[in-house]
Amino acid sequence: MSQYNCPPVCGKCSRAHRGPCQQNQPGALALGTGYAPFFADEWVTIYCGNAREIVPTLAYEVIVSDPPYGIAYKSGSSRNESQLARSIEGDETTELRDWLCALGKPTLCFGTWKVAPPAGTRETLVWDKKGALGMGALDIPWKRSWEEIYVLGKGFSGRREGAVLQYAPVQSMSRNGRVHPHEKPVALMEYLVDRCPRGVILDPFMGSGATLRAAKNRQRRAIGIEINERYCKIAADRMRQDVLRLSA
Ligand SMILES: C[S@@+](CC[C@H](N)C(=O)[O-])C[C@H]1O[C@@H](n2cnc3c(N)ncnc32)[C@H](O)[C@@H]1O
Repeated sequence: MSQYNCPPVCGKCSRAHRGPCQQNQPGALALGTGYAPFFADEWVTIYCGNAREIVPTLAYEVIVSDPPYGIAYKSGSSRNESQLARSIEGDETTELRDWLCALGKPTLCFGTWKVAPPAGTRETLVWDKKGALGMGALDIPWKRSWEEIYVLGKGFSGRREGAVLQYAPVQSMSRNGRVHPHEKPVALMEYLVDRCPRGVILDPFMGSGATLRAAKNRQRRAIGIEINERYCKIAADRMRQDVLRLSA
Protein backbone atom coordinates (compact mmCIF):
# COMPACT_ATOMS: atom_id res chain seq x y z
CA MET A 1 0.00 0.00 0.00
CA SER A 2 1.24 3.47 -0.83
CA GLN A 3 2.43 5.59 2.09
CA TYR A 4 0.87 8.66 0.52
CA ASN A 5 -2.68 9.19 -0.60
CA CYS A 6 -2.05 11.67 -3.43
CA PRO A 7 -5.02 12.76 -5.54
CA PRO A 8 -4.68 11.86 -9.24
CA VAL A 9 -3.70 14.55 -11.72
CA CYS A 10 -6.86 15.99 -13.27
CA GLY A 11 -7.26 15.59 -17.05
CA LYS A 12 -8.95 19.00 -17.32
CA CYS A 13 -6.56 21.29 -15.50
CA SER A 14 -3.40 19.14 -15.20
CA ARG A 15 -3.37 19.63 -11.42
CA ALA A 16 -3.74 17.20 -8.57
CA HIS A 17 -6.91 18.01 -6.60
CA ARG A 18 -9.71 16.27 -4.74
CA GLY A 19 -13.36 16.70 -5.66
CA PRO A 20 -14.77 18.29 -8.82
CA CYS A 21 -12.50 20.34 -11.06
CA GLN A 22 -12.92 24.09 -10.57
CA GLN A 23 -11.54 24.83 -14.02
CA ASN A 24 -14.70 26.42 -15.33
CA GLN A 25 -15.56 28.35 -12.19
CA PRO A 26 -15.09 32.11 -12.67
CA GLY A 27 -12.17 33.30 -10.63
CA ALA A 28 -10.99 29.79 -9.86
CA LEU A 29 -7.41 30.71 -10.63
CA ALA A 30 -7.53 33.50 -8.09
CA LEU A 31 -8.17 31.24 -5.13
CA GLY A 32 -5.50 31.35 -2.47
CA THR A 33 -3.32 34.03 -4.03
CA GLY A 34 -4.07 36.75 -1.49
CA TYR A 35 -4.51 39.27 -4.31
CA ALA A 36 -7.94 40.24 -5.58
CA PRO A 37 -8.21 39.71 -9.32
CA PHE A 38 -9.00 42.70 -11.49
CA PHE A 39 -10.96 40.40 -13.81
CA ALA A 40 -11.70 36.69 -13.96
CA ASP A 41 -13.72 34.38 -16.16
CA GLU A 42 -13.65 30.66 -16.87
CA TRP A 43 -10.39 30.88 -18.83
CA VAL A 44 -8.43 33.92 -17.72
CA THR A 45 -7.59 35.87 -14.58
CA ILE A 46 -6.07 39.34 -14.59
CA TYR A 47 -4.22 40.99 -11.71
CA CYS A 48 -3.42 44.67 -11.66
CA GLY A 49 -0.14 45.22 -9.86
CA ASN A 50 3.56 44.51 -9.72
CA ALA A 51 4.42 41.14 -11.26
CA ARG A 52 7.37 40.65 -8.96
CA GLU A 53 5.07 40.71 -5.94
CA ILE A 54 2.17 38.72 -7.40
CA VAL A 55 3.92 35.93 -9.35
CA PRO A 56 5.33 34.17 -6.25
CA THR A 57 1.74 33.66 -5.03
CA LEU A 58 0.52 31.99 -8.24
CA ALA A 59 0.41 28.44 -9.61
CA TYR A 60 1.22 28.17 -13.32
CA GLU A 61 3.07 25.87 -15.68
CA VAL A 62 4.21 27.93 -18.70
CA ILE A 63 5.27 31.53 -19.35
CA VAL A 64 4.49 33.39 -22.57
CA SER A 65 5.40 37.04 -22.21
CA ASP A 66 6.57 40.23 -23.80
CA PRO A 67 8.38 41.91 -20.90
CA PRO A 68 10.01 45.32 -20.92
CA TYR A 69 13.05 44.68 -23.14
CA GLY A 70 15.66 46.86 -21.47
CA ILE A 71 15.89 49.39 -24.30
CA ALA A 72 14.41 52.45 -22.54
CA TYR A 73 11.70 52.61 -25.24
CA LYS A 74 10.51 56.09 -26.20
CA SER A 75 8.09 56.61 -29.05
CA GLY A 76 9.39 59.17 -31.52
CA SER A 77 6.03 59.60 -33.18
CA SER A 78 4.25 62.82 -32.33
CA ARG A 79 1.11 61.50 -34.05
CA ASN A 80 0.72 58.78 -31.45
CA GLU A 81 1.33 60.92 -28.43
CA SER A 82 -2.24 61.65 -27.44
CA GLN A 83 -3.34 58.01 -27.50
CA LEU A 84 -0.43 55.62 -26.99
CA ALA A 85 2.01 55.82 -24.10
CA ARG A 86 5.43 57.16 -25.13
CA SER A 87 7.39 54.88 -22.78
CA ILE A 88 7.15 51.46 -21.15
CA GLU A 89 7.31 50.98 -17.40
CA GLY A 90 10.47 49.07 -16.34
CA ASP A 91 12.15 49.29 -19.76
CA GLU A 92 15.37 50.94 -18.54
CA THR A 93 17.18 47.62 -17.91
CA THR A 94 16.75 43.90 -18.65
CA GLU A 95 16.12 43.23 -14.96
CA LEU A 96 12.45 42.29 -15.37
CA ARG A 97 13.13 40.13 -18.44
CA ASP A 98 15.96 38.32 -16.68
CA TRP A 99 13.86 37.79 -13.56
CA LEU A 100 11.08 36.32 -15.71
CA CYS A 101 13.43 33.97 -17.55
CA ALA A 102 14.95 32.74 -14.29
CA LEU A 103 11.60 31.55 -12.91
CA GLY A 104 12.46 28.08 -14.21
CA LYS A 105 9.34 27.36 -16.30
CA PRO A 106 9.09 26.59 -20.01
CA THR A 107 9.15 30.13 -21.37
CA LEU A 108 8.59 32.03 -24.61
CA CYS A 109 9.89 35.57 -24.12
CA PHE A 110 9.93 38.44 -26.63
CA GLY A 111 13.10 40.47 -26.90
CA THR A 112 15.44 42.47 -29.06
CA TRP A 113 18.90 41.90 -30.58
CA LYS A 114 19.95 45.23 -29.00
CA VAL A 115 20.59 43.43 -25.72
CA ALA A 116 22.07 39.94 -25.17
CA PRO A 117 19.55 37.07 -24.95
CA PRO A 118 18.63 35.91 -21.44
CA ALA A 119 20.61 33.10 -19.80
CA GLY A 120 19.18 29.70 -20.64
CA THR A 121 17.98 30.59 -24.15
CA ARG A 122 17.78 27.37 -26.19
CA GLU A 123 16.53 28.84 -29.46
CA THR A 124 15.60 32.23 -30.86
CA LEU A 125 12.52 32.55 -33.03
CA VAL A 126 12.19 35.48 -35.39
CA TRP A 127 8.87 37.25 -35.70
CA ASP A 128 8.94 38.56 -39.27
CA LYS A 129 6.44 41.42 -39.55
CA LYS A 130 6.16 40.81 -43.29
CA GLY A 131 7.96 44.02 -44.11
CA ALA A 132 5.39 46.12 -42.32
CA LEU A 133 6.50 48.60 -39.62
CA GLY A 134 10.04 48.91 -38.32
CA MET A 135 12.37 51.88 -38.22
CA GLY A 136 16.05 51.31 -37.46
CA ALA A 137 18.75 53.47 -39.04
CA LEU A 138 17.21 55.65 -41.72
CA ASP A 139 20.46 56.01 -43.71
CA ILE A 140 20.50 52.37 -44.84
CA PRO A 141 17.96 50.70 -47.13
CA TRP A 142 16.65 48.15 -44.59
CA LYS A 143 14.21 48.67 -41.82
CA ARG A 144 14.03 46.51 -38.72
CA SER A 145 10.88 44.56 -39.47
CA TRP A 146 11.43 41.66 -37.07
CA GLU A 147 11.62 40.85 -33.37
CA GLU A 148 13.14 38.00 -31.36
CA ILE A 149 11.35 35.41 -29.24
CA TYR A 150 13.53 33.37 -26.88
CA VAL A 151 12.70 29.74 -26.14
CA LEU A 152 13.68 28.47 -22.68
CA GLY A 153 12.88 25.18 -20.99
CA LYS A 154 11.25 22.02 -22.32
CA GLY A 155 7.88 20.57 -23.30
CA PHE A 156 7.06 22.58 -26.43
CA SER A 157 5.53 20.54 -29.22
CA GLY A 158 4.15 20.75 -32.76
CA ARG A 159 5.20 20.14 -36.35
CA ARG A 160 8.91 20.77 -36.77
CA GLU A 161 9.39 23.84 -38.96
CA GLY A 162 11.48 26.94 -39.50
CA ALA A 163 12.01 29.44 -36.71
CA VAL A 164 10.97 32.47 -38.79
CA LEU A 165 7.32 33.22 -38.07
CA GLN A 166 5.55 35.51 -40.49
CA TYR A 167 2.65 37.43 -38.98
CA ALA A 168 1.39 40.87 -39.88
CA PRO A 169 1.72 43.32 -36.98
CA VAL A 170 -1.09 45.23 -35.32
CA GLN A 171 -1.68 48.59 -37.03
CA SER A 172 0.85 51.16 -35.85
CA MET A 173 -1.53 54.03 -35.10
CA SER A 174 -3.99 54.29 -32.25
CA ARG A 175 -6.52 55.79 -34.63
CA ASN A 176 -6.39 52.46 -36.50
CA GLY A 177 -7.19 50.52 -33.35
CA ARG A 178 -3.81 49.93 -31.72
CA VAL A 179 -4.10 50.17 -27.93
CA HIS A 180 -0.53 49.50 -26.73
CA PRO A 181 2.80 50.66 -28.20
CA HIS A 182 4.12 47.08 -28.08
CA GLU A 183 0.89 45.29 -28.89
CA LYS A 184 1.39 41.82 -30.37
CA PRO A 185 -0.89 40.23 -32.97
CA VAL A 186 -3.25 37.65 -31.46
CA ALA A 187 -2.66 35.26 -34.39
CA LEU A 188 1.05 35.10 -33.54
CA MET A 189 0.27 34.57 -29.86
CA GLU A 190 -2.16 31.75 -30.77
CA TYR A 191 0.61 30.07 -32.77
CA LEU A 192 2.89 30.24 -29.73
CA VAL A 193 0.19 29.13 -27.26
CA ASP A 194 -0.56 26.09 -29.43
CA ARG A 195 3.04 24.90 -29.05
CA CYS A 196 3.22 25.31 -25.27
CA PRO A 197 3.26 22.45 -22.77
CA ARG A 198 0.02 21.71 -20.94
CA GLY A 199 -1.07 23.75 -17.95
CA VAL A 200 -1.83 27.32 -16.97
CA ILE A 201 -0.07 30.00 -19.04
CA LEU A 202 1.28 33.05 -17.25
CA ASP A 203 1.96 36.44 -18.83
CA PRO A 204 3.27 38.67 -16.02
CA PHE A 205 3.70 41.68 -18.36
CA MET A 206 0.39 41.42 -20.13
CA GLY A 207 0.01 44.92 -21.59
CA SER A 208 -3.21 44.96 -23.60
CA GLY A 209 -3.71 41.21 -23.09
CA ALA A 210 -2.75 39.67 -26.46
CA THR A 211 -1.41 36.50 -24.79
CA LEU A 212 -4.55 36.09 -22.70
CA ARG A 213 -6.86 36.69 -25.65
CA ALA A 214 -4.94 34.06 -27.62
CA ALA A 215 -5.08 31.61 -24.71
CA LYS A 216 -8.81 32.13 -24.31
CA ASN A 217 -9.36 31.68 -28.05
CA ARG A 218 -7.47 28.38 -27.86
CA GLN A 219 -9.32 27.36 -24.67
CA ARG A 220 -6.20 27.44 -22.53
CA ARG A 221 -6.27 28.77 -18.98
CA ALA A 222 -4.13 31.84 -18.46
CA ILE A 223 -3.15 34.45 -15.88
CA GLY A 224 -2.10 37.99 -16.78
CA ILE A 225 -0.51 40.72 -14.67
CA GLU A 226 -0.13 44.36 -15.62
CA ILE A 227 1.04 47.29 -13.53
CA ASN A 228 -0.80 49.92 -15.54
CA GLU A 229 -4.51 49.99 -14.71
CA ARG A 230 -5.41 51.49 -18.08
CA TYR A 231 -4.04 48.41 -19.85
CA CYS A 232 -5.81 46.13 -17.35
CA LYS A 233 -9.11 47.72 -18.35
CA ILE A 234 -8.30 47.33 -22.04
CA ALA A 235 -7.33 43.68 -21.53
CA ALA A 236 -10.45 42.93 -19.48
CA ASP A 237 -12.62 44.43 -22.23
CA ARG A 238 -10.87 42.23 -24.79
CA MET A 239 -11.65 39.14 -22.71
CA ARG A 240 -15.33 40.07 -22.62
CA GLN A 241 -15.57 40.16 -26.41
CA ASP A 242 -16.95 37.03 -28.03
CA VAL A 243 -14.90 35.70 -30.88
CA LEU A 244 -16.71 34.55 -34.00
CA ARG A 245 -14.69 31.65 -35.36
CA LEU A 246 -15.11 30.69 -38.99
CA SER A 247 -14.44 27.01 -39.52
CA ALA A 248 -12.31 26.22 -42.57
C1 LIG B 1 6.11 45.17 -23.85
S1 LIG B 1 4.68 45.53 -22.95
C2 LIG B 1 3.58 44.17 -23.30
C3 LIG B 1 2.65 44.41 -24.46
C4 LIG B 1 1.76 43.22 -24.79
N1 LIG B 1 2.51 42.16 -25.40
C5 LIG B 1 0.59 43.58 -25.69
O1 LIG B 1 0.35 42.89 -26.68
O2 LIG B 1 -0.10 44.56 -25.40
C6 LIG B 1 5.19 45.26 -21.30
C7 LIG B 1 4.17 45.66 -20.24
O3 LIG B 1 4.69 45.35 -18.95
C8 LIG B 1 4.14 46.28 -18.03
N2 LIG B 1 4.96 46.27 -16.82
C9 LIG B 1 6.15 46.88 -16.61
N3 LIG B 1 6.62 46.61 -15.38
C10 LIG B 1 5.70 45.80 -14.79
C11 LIG B 1 5.64 45.13 -13.52
N4 LIG B 1 6.61 45.28 -12.60
N5 LIG B 1 4.57 44.36 -13.26
C12 LIG B 1 3.57 44.20 -14.18
N6 LIG B 1 3.58 44.79 -15.39
C13 LIG B 1 4.64 45.57 -15.71
C14 LIG B 1 4.16 47.59 -18.79
O4 LIG B 1 3.21 48.51 -18.26
C15 LIG B 1 3.81 47.12 -20.23
O5 LIG B 1 2.44 47.30 -20.50
